[in-house]
Amino acid sequence: MPKTIIVSNRLPVKLSQEGEEFILKTSEGGLATGLGSIYKQDGNIWVGWPGTAVETDEQRFQVTQKLQEENLYPVFLSQEQVNNFYEGFSNETLWPVFHYMATYAKFEQVFWKSYVQVNRLFAAAVMENIEDDDTVWVHDYQLLLVPSFLRELKPNLSIGFFNHIPFPSFEIFRLIPWRRQLIHGILGADLIGFHTYDDVRHFLSTVTHLSGYRSSANVISLEGRSVVVESFPMGIDDKKFSSAIADKKVQENIGTLQKMFGETKMILSIDRLDYSKGIIQRLHAFELLLSEQGDFKEKVSLYMIVVPSRDTVPQYKELRDQIDKLVGNINAKYRTISWVPIHYFYQSAPFEMLAALYHFAHICLVTPMRDGMNLVCKEYVASRVNNDGMLILSEMAGAAKELVDAWIVNPNNVHEISEAIYVALKMPLDEQERRMRQLRYVVEKFNINSWVRNFMNRLKEVKQMQESMQAKRLNSDKEQQIRSTYTERKRRVFFLDYDGTLVDFHTNIYLAKPDKELYGLLKELSSDPANKVVLISGRNYQTLQEWLGDLQMDMIAEHGAWTKFHGDDWKSIPGLTDDWKKDVLQVLNTYTDRTPGSFIEEKAFSLVWHFRRTDEGLGELRANELTNNLKYLVSDRGLQILQGNKVIEVKNAEINKGKAVAAWVMENQPDMIIAIGDDYTDEDIFKTLAEDAITIKVGSNISAAKYFLHSYRDVRRFLATLAKTSTATQSI
Ligand code: UDP
Ligand code: G6P
Repeated sequence: MPKTIIVSNRLPVKLSQEGEEFILKTSEGGLATGLGSIYKQDGNIWVGWPGTAVETDEQRFQVTQKLQEENLYPVFLSQEQVNNFYEGFSNETLWPVFHYMATYAKFEQVFWKSYVQVNRLFAAAVMENIEDDDTVWVHDYQLLLVPSFLRELKPNLSIGFFNHIPFPSFEIFRLIPWRRQLIHGILGADLIGFHTYDDVRHFLSTVTHLSGYRSSANVISLEGRSVVVESFPMGIDDKKFSSAIADKKVQENIGTLQKMFGETKMILSIDRLDYSKGIIQRLHAFELLLSEQGDFKEKVSLYMIVVPSRDTVPQYKELRDQIDKLVGNINAKYRTISWVPIHYFYQSAPFEMLAALYHFAHICLVTPMRDGMNLVCKEYVASRVNNDGMLILSEMAGAAKELVDAWIVNPNNVHEISEAIYVALKMPLDEQERRMRQLRYVVEKFNINSWVRNFMNRLKEVKQMQESMQAKRLNSDKEQQIRSTYTERKRRVFFLDYDGTLVDFHTNIYLAKPDKELYGLLKELSSDPANKVVLISGRNYQTLQEWLGDLQMDMIAEHGAWTKFHGDDWKSIPGLTDDWKKDVLQVLNTYTDRTPGSFIEEKAFSLVWHFRRTDEGLGELRANELTNNLKYLVSDRGLQILQGNKVIEVKNAEINKGKAVAAWVMENQPDMIIAIGDDYTDEDIFKTLAEDAITIKVGSNISAAKYFLHSYRDVRRFLATLAKTSTATQSI
């Protein structure tokens, strides 16, 4: 049975050496704890770094054997790689940038080199374990290049990628010198997952700014492959926490806490040592409570676990010193003979202790400055089997998007946090229960199993979608079939769209003139007596006439408003009016004045607002506004608003390319039809034509066309081979 290979920098266990022996301990950190309880299902394996240097071959063999029993496969890193890849590029470059602490970031070439090298090592380790039909699921910021390295090694592999930390806005991401390589690396995956929709938005905007690939909604079209980007908020193994209460050791720990705290209420705080977690601000907020609300002295204590993490990175070392100092000061200032304000532990706690703490704490205080998700808050909620207790949660944690019944705070506002603690301590039981029930419902429903299931099912769907697109790709076999029909038929017609189909898009629409190659190609095709070439475009007829009027082609301009049969004059559809243009122009003008780079194109029976040259994002925003604004103007006037490729067009509703093509076909009765177009106005053509027509979409979006070609270059190549194929004699 095909398996899933999970790949992450850290394995769910970490090695430590005791004498000659290697001991396995559970890793901390959301990724490892979250997936750690379920990864073994269905014979899956997990590839990752065991967290410590293992020097000799013999030791490496011993460790590999030990890990194999747990379905784990190690990637060993040298001390230099740990320094440059793990501490360096991962945690001194990417981590601060992704957490909006760009001033902490170091941009060092040696870090980058090591990052590339180690990402290759991880890809190679996956390849050592892969079998046909396996799926690979790559995790987190340490391995952003692994998806594309795997894609190079095994082009059809099904690859998922999940980023567990926030994805920053483009303005922050662009600071990284190797930004394009990183985006290219991630795009090796078929499905890219983030915890929140904001992360998805930031990623999509970064891709469109940096890569030149087009995206439509959440699908990015690469050459020959579509990549889907979606949010999948990670859940936890809720049962593990809700059922822990029955465990004897957990009960004993609760008993100890009860004795220790008596009537004093406990506020719980658990994090890895990290500047993204807002620990200093939290301590200030607690001190504020003690100084402003004297009544709470001896009635409430903060129980703070800080798990050692990355403490060889300078910022982490500094943070540790700051915490030590601040906790010391607060305790020294406020403690009494029988009460300590802050119980501070710089160590990790075993699961039985964590579960007891979650069960016992009256309040859980989770106030990160930025956090991809944050699982601690979900673990607290899952543990509250009596539905009491209060969760105070930072709005900057991904979890705040789901846990809306928590008391949400801005982690930079120490007054707000201090007030929130006050409110939580005073909160009546029924209100605690109302909130906690809602929170528990969310945590139980969207647990780790549903997270994995949703991601994996979506990955399968994406793969199927890619395969069906692939099946519609115009490959050499299908081209061969078309060529053989082509040689048999004597009354052939080509309906060809212009922009995006025969030429690339240009920021200045008047510069997208036919080049020599295209002119020659159209000439060759149209001079064959068995062919008719019909150019069908949204452009005005004057431009088409100027550029291509010399050729023996029929032309249809303004989506069908104007037609010219070869040798004849341009004629418009009778009865069209343009008396609406004045009102619409007025609206378009206000948007053009407000949007630098945009301009209006006026045609006889339509008006187009172009925004290809406007700032990325601003154009789309204004286009949506404009569309809403125009809606009331066009109703009852027989007009239609089209949202095209970086354009909004208003035209008479009765004109469309489909009708124009149908009329042409009726009159000329061709025996073979080839229609090629790239945007949704061409969809009318594809839908109108009979089943046996050869309809081709340029690009990879969903389409009514039978086939796909990637770009205008492929269209030219395809047409050129047909032009050379011709053997017919009879003219249409
Ligand atoms: N954790 C742990 N031992 C501890 C303290 C915390 O295993 O002593 C776990 C905790 O249960 C949680 C994880 O570490 O599952 C922290 O994940 P979170 O998403 O909150 O933060 P991250 O560390 O991933 O930034
Ligand atoms: C966060 C990251 C994980 C990382 C964990 C612990 O949860 O998203 O990728 O494993 O922190 O950090 P560490 O550096 O100890 O692996």
